[in-house]
Amino acid sequence: MGKYYLTTPIYYVNAKPHLGHAYTTIVSDALARWHRMLGDDVYFLTGTDEHGLKIQQAADAAGTSPKEFADSIAPLFSQAWERLNISNDDFIRTTEERHRVGVQKLLQACYDAGDIELDKYSGLYCVACEAYYVEDDLEAGNCPIHKKPVEHVEEENYFFRLSRFEQRLLDWYSSHPGAVVPEHRVNEVVGFIKQGLQDFSVSRRTLTWGIPLPFDPSHVAYVWFDALANYITAIGYGTDDEKFREWWPVNHHVIGKDIVRFHNIYWPAMLMSAGIEPPSGWAVGGWLLVGGEKMSKTTGNVVNPLALIDEIGVDGFRYYVLSDTVYGSDGDFTYEGLIGRYNSDLANNLGNLAARVATVVGKKCGGLGTAPAPDSPLAVHARGAVAETIAQWEVVQPSRALEATWGLIRATNAHLETNEPWKAEPGPAVDAVMGDALEALRIVTILCHAAVPSTAQEIWRRIGMPGNVADMRIPKDVAWGGYPAGLPVEKGDPLFPRRTVA
Ligand code: MSP
Repeated sequence: MGKYYLTTPIYYVNAKPHLGHAYTTIVSDALARWHRMLGDDVYFLTGTDEHGLKIQQAADAAGTSPKEFADSIAPLFSQAWERLNISNDDFIRTTEERHRVGVQKLLQACYDAGDIELDKYSGLYCVACEAYYVEDDLEAGNCPIHKKPVEHVEEENYFFRLSRFEQRLLDWYSSHPGAVVPEHRVNEVVGFIKQGLQDFSVSRRTLTWGIPLPFDPSHVAYVWFDALANYITAIGYGTDDEKFREWWPVNHHVIGKDIVRFHNIYWPAMLMSAGIEPPSGWAVGGWLLVGGEKMSKTTGNVVNPLALIDEIGVDGFRYYVLSDTVYGSDGDFTYEGLIGRYNSDLANNLGNLAARVATVVGKKCGGLGTAPAPDSPLAVHARGAVAETIAQWEVVQPSRALEATWGLIRATNAHLETNEPWKAEPGPAVDAVMGDALEALRIVTILCHAAVPSTAQEIWRRIGMPGNVADMRIPKDVAWGGYPAGLPVEKGDPLFPRRTVA
């Protein structure tokens, strides 16, 4: 038990929320919920990235001011997260005053440390990435991520002396094993640092849509310097020292693999320069591809998560994105895969177990739940599933955690099929089988709450448990034997009616 501060990337407001944003945010939400159940004090931050050339250009194209443009898109993100049942504690927009104050304080601190200096630069820039490249990074003259031509820019700017931090960063990573999950990602970071780090420009003179440098207001801050700072400005850096001290350092920055360089190299170096501790952890996800490709407006394969939840329900969608891809690897979204998992894991396994238990308790136990036996064979399964589920959430592997939880669901369904209580006469034998099944279901409900919060609460209620499943604590409340006899059990409508591919 302790504090757990976690963040999502802040999303650019040049696009509406899509499946990739939803994926990253749902993984973060599940982690936040899991840690609340572990008894941690959780602060879960998300938000929007609203400055920079990319947003300026999008606003120009829409014939509006960048602020009006951002004001029209930012709510689409907060509304999408509400519909996806995202339990964020804060939502920061980089156009907020608290953010401006903190960014300027951070810039000043790095400047005072001598790590920001005026210099001349000429280089290659991709506006879509808002990042510089060197010739070797390019693929046929194009940005390796967006496959679009880069621009040649020449400017006098302020530079952050990233090159000075090579050794400090290498030392930091070698003395903090396990800070990056999945672990293989750290090799990429270390390899990149070892190639030699280049200073990066932290200001733009040609752009006005940004935060002015406190030591030279004729420049605005580079959008990535501005954006990364959200992780400290939201918790009070520059505006509320006490809150900042309470929450920093962050426990997990949940990010996609495309923004590792910014988060694992630029950001800790910026913090070191300002005399602030680096993050404690990063969880790096792969891309959720559609038809094997990254979603983009140009390919026309952008998937709107809100359309999917109209069809499959919020929890059906959350379960799919959490379970279908091993976190850290790329996943491929398919509609058939979504329906397939829904039918097999939710309708046939979890939904079926809840329905069966309630039906048999209704018919054979007078509608009142019975107590589990302390030495039930299911208790052994439950202990194993609990330990494995906990271990997998700990290393940010939602798909494996859910696999472990679903193992207990399958074992419980198998236990019922072996004993066939629906064929037996009411009596102690049926009561015992049903008590064990109810107890396994109670434990499953606690374990799956982080992934499918509304469903978990509904099962909790149907098996007669009082209050909120979210208030249960792990591991205390998932010990075998917590289901008391005598609670009213309700059948209700099917939780997950079977779907066919439309
Ligand atoms: N604004 C920056 C992040 C600044 S954080 C200080 C940005 N924004 S973004 O809107 O383009 O994307 C944010 C992140 O969403 C990506 O970096 C990635 O982590 C995630 N994803 C976007 N598309 C994705 C997929 N198709 N699949 C998985 N994650 C994806 O970058």
